[in-house]
Amino acid sequence: FENVVSMEDLSTDDVLSFIHEAQDFKAGKQIELKRPVYAANLFFEGSTRTHTSFEMAERKLGLQVVNFDPANSSLSKGESMSDTVKTFQAIGVDLVAIRDKKNEYYKDLIADPNIHLGIANGGDGSGQHPSQSLLDMMTIYEEFGHFEGLKVAIVGDLTHSRVARSNMEVLTMLGAHVYFGGPKKWYTKEFAKYGEWMPIDDLVEEMDVMMFLRVQHERIADDENGSFSAEKYHEQYGLTAERESRMPQQSIIMHPAPVNRGVEIADELVECDKSRIFQQMHNGVFVRMAIMTSMLRNRGLIKEEY
Ligand code: CP
Repeated sequence: FENVVSMEDLSTDDVLSFIHEAQDFKAGKQIELKRPVYAANLFFEGSTRTHTSFEMAERKLGLQVVNFDPANSSLSKGESMSDTVKTFQAIGVDLVAIRDKKNEYYKDLIADPNIHLGIANGGDGSGQHPSQSLLDMMTIYEEFGHFEGLKVAIVGDLTHSRVARSNMEVLTMLGAHVYFGGPKKWYTKEFAKYGEWMPIDDLVEEMDVMMFLRVQHERIADDENGSFSAEKYHEQYGLTAERESRMPQQSIIMHPAPVNRGVEIADELVECDKSRIFQQMHNGVFVRMAIMTSMLRNRGLIKEEY
């Protein structure tokens, strides 16, 4: 791929190819580059996992990583994202991973005839999060070996979640059945097209995958945050130990993290036997290696794959 910015651009075969390539990297696959290749991670919005995971993926592929600290950059002088990206291109950077709070920030960059470097979307506002979606699909595939007919619940702050949007589309395309849970005010028409809403007490007994989402206080209006009760949310919509005990034996728990422990999921369940939360993070490195490799391949920068 020239750029990897949205799950909407990927077919079923593309998603499966990314998963298989990530599995190959997990099993030890390596690449050799034709020349030194440079990458930069431009995170204009906070991140722990995606940022460090892209950097780890780039280093494992043998790319040279150029640092960028937005707080001490010329963004403070009013420089735009577009000029920041063009600056990295001008100094010789080949690939960038970008995160920004603006939905679809990448459209203007891709349409700009003066921008040629490869762009991997590390998350845009409440829009898309393709690397997270692919690592989620890899984790589900590793567990079940298929998607067809699987029941997957996406539970929580749907409205503000780029993970919910990316995943409901790709899971449906792959043949899984999507359900939703959490506060009904966040289950809007956009989600109803993809699956029905069910109470958490019914979901836990029927689903193969319980995928919880973080309550995104930073994107929720202040007045709503003021009335938010973590205890009440956990009791009404969260995974309690009692609910976990009713989940089917083969079922798994997922969450893109960071987790609000004790809100979406009881503290002691974050690392329980059914939880794949840290496995998701581990798989993220290999998925991002596959994403960067597809952009390297597109640019003819790979000498050998073995
Ligand atoms: N899951 C995820 O995107 O985490 P970060 O915000 O820490 O990157």
